[in-house]
Amino acid sequence: MSHFGSYDERVKNFDWKISENELGYKEGDPINIGWYCTDRICEMGKADKPALIWEGPTGNEKRYTYNDLRLTSNTIGSFLRSLGIKNEDRVCLFMDKIPELYLGFLGILKIGAIAQPLFSAFGDESLFIRLENAQTKAIITQKKHAPKIRKIIDKMPWLEHIIIVDQDPAKPLQEREVSFNLDEAPKVETFDIFPTYAESPSVLHYTSGTTGQPKGVKHVHASLISQYLTAKWVLDLHDDDIYWCTADPGWVTGTSYGIIGAFSNGVTQCILDAGFSADNWYRFIEKHKVSVWYSAPTAIRSLMKAGDDVVKRYNLSSLRHLASVGEPLNSEAVIWSEKVFGKPFLDTYWQTETGCMVITNFPDMKIKPGSMGKGFPGIIATVVDPETYEPFEESGKMGLIAIKPGWPSMMRTYWNNEETYQKKFVNGWYIPGDRSSIDNEGYFWFVGRDDDVINTGGHLVSPFEVESALLEHEAVAESAVVAKPDFVNMEVVKAFVTLKPGFTASKELDLQIMNFVRKKLSPLAMPQEIEFVETLPKTRSGKIMRRILHAKEWGEEIGDTSTLEED
Ligand code: WTA
Repeated sequence: MSHFGSYDERVKNFDWKISENELGYKEGDPINIGWYCTDRICEMGKADKPALIWEGPTGNEKRYTYNDLRLTSNTIGSFLRSLGIKNEDRVCLFMDKIPELYLGFLGILKIGAIAQPLFSAFGDESLFIRLENAQTKAIITQKKHAPKIRKIIDKMPWLEHIIIVDQDPAKPLQEREVSFNLDEAPKVETFDIFPTYAESPSVLHYTSGTTGQPKGVKHVHASLISQYLTAKWVLDLHDDDIYWCTADPGWVTGTSYGIIGAFSNGVTQCILDAGFSADNWYRFIEKHKVSVWYSAPTAIRSLMKAGDDVVKRYNLSSLRHLASVGEPLNSEAVIWSEKVFGKPFLDTYWQTETGCMVITNFPDMKIKPGSMGKGFPGIIATVVDPETYEPFEESGKMGLIAIKPGWPSMMRTYWNNEETYQKKFVNGWYIPGDRSSIDNEGYFWFVGRDDDVINTGGHLVSPFEVESALLEHEAVAESAVVAKPDFVNMEVVKAFVTLKPGFTASKELDLQIMNFVRKKLSPLAMPQEIEFVETLPKTRSGKIMRRILHAKEWGEEIGDTSTLEED
């Protein structure tokens, strides 16, 4: 039996109090995600239950029970306090998917500080922009990532501590660095958890927009109420499940469902900190007997590409329930998963800003391959006319997704950017910035984003950020960055570049520019293709028209070009 039941029944009787009651939370009580994910599960009699099974790049393993989770998060929290870190201070997590990332996240929340997870492959520029915006006080990292921080440390007077979790004792520490080895630290048994409340800030996740710098999405401890219940109902987490969320906590899926949703439900979670290969993923599922698997379309398409034969080499009979997020899940991928795994991947739609799944398929619902499903009970989602921001009266019309504000895990603001936050609300709706239609049975069908942000393998990349990085290269005069279609990643970054006098296009220059962006920003933001051009299409006022370049890449009609620059 799934936890869900009939969709109509769930919608009719829905109240977020269902979640609050299960969590034993009453309005006005203190609520701390760190406590709910660790101490509370122990108090429920599951102290010795495996919480986290971690496998590293060489197949090495580490295991933590819920009691270990409680003790290690206490220990990290207490160390942070000893450094003078207080509630609401921002503490960045800048690590690969090692246990300290997950345990550190919980430790930060336990002291009431704000966790700022950042993808460990970020280069110094991506890192600096986000640390500067948040005025981050401490960063927890690995020695292999420390050089990127050292490179920018002089520009960051607000950053007081760089905590290295795997420091070689023989090597000297540098400015502001401190070593903290979790395995060796004496475990802290009793700990004063900071009394956070529903509206106390918890997590700051950075997400990219078309213009301007990345935005820091501020979440609060009340987000647990949505994350706990959506994880339970949509991911259908049962007490005996072995759950695997493939997302990195540098992105919201890896925290909302890779930490909070899973641990607050008291399930056993496995984590694979190794690169992707179909063989390795299937081996991992077989070895740990994964029963619930939450992944992303790009990974599923990569598995499809690896073929059906490799699936047959492994015993994947433990798999009970599969779900996906981050990009459009094409119907072929759903049908393929049904064929090879015996179950479909259920598509779920949400955003960093929404904090939890908002439009989704459910275990007991009829699945229409290619559709994102329906609004989660308690979430009023619709599609509005892009002109009037009124919901369409008939079904089947394409417009903007719109959601009634007010669910517990909705972002509370963009950090230091209230103005951009306010612009996300129109006519009483929150507008996520995606286009969709709704069919006559209430199912949502994703059409595309309503902006120029590139969604590569489920990761949002801002064309503005890539263009800014390109302009810093000595050979680049102008640039325009757009998405280019790709079978596996759905979209990849493509850059059009005009060169400064004295530079000529060549394969070497091409590679050099790609590497330049990879180092500054990240491998995701690196253009997969650079096209050197003489001129870029511009409006009469000189603004580069990405729209024209985008249409060319996708073989679409170019549309109105009346504002194009005249020769
Ligand atoms: C896109 C990831 C199609 C969408 C949790 C959204 C999707 C953005 C889906 C948020 C889906 C997410 N089908 N597109 N099921 N899920 N998206 O903030 O454009 O990294 O606005 O959050 O990804 O990406 P974010």
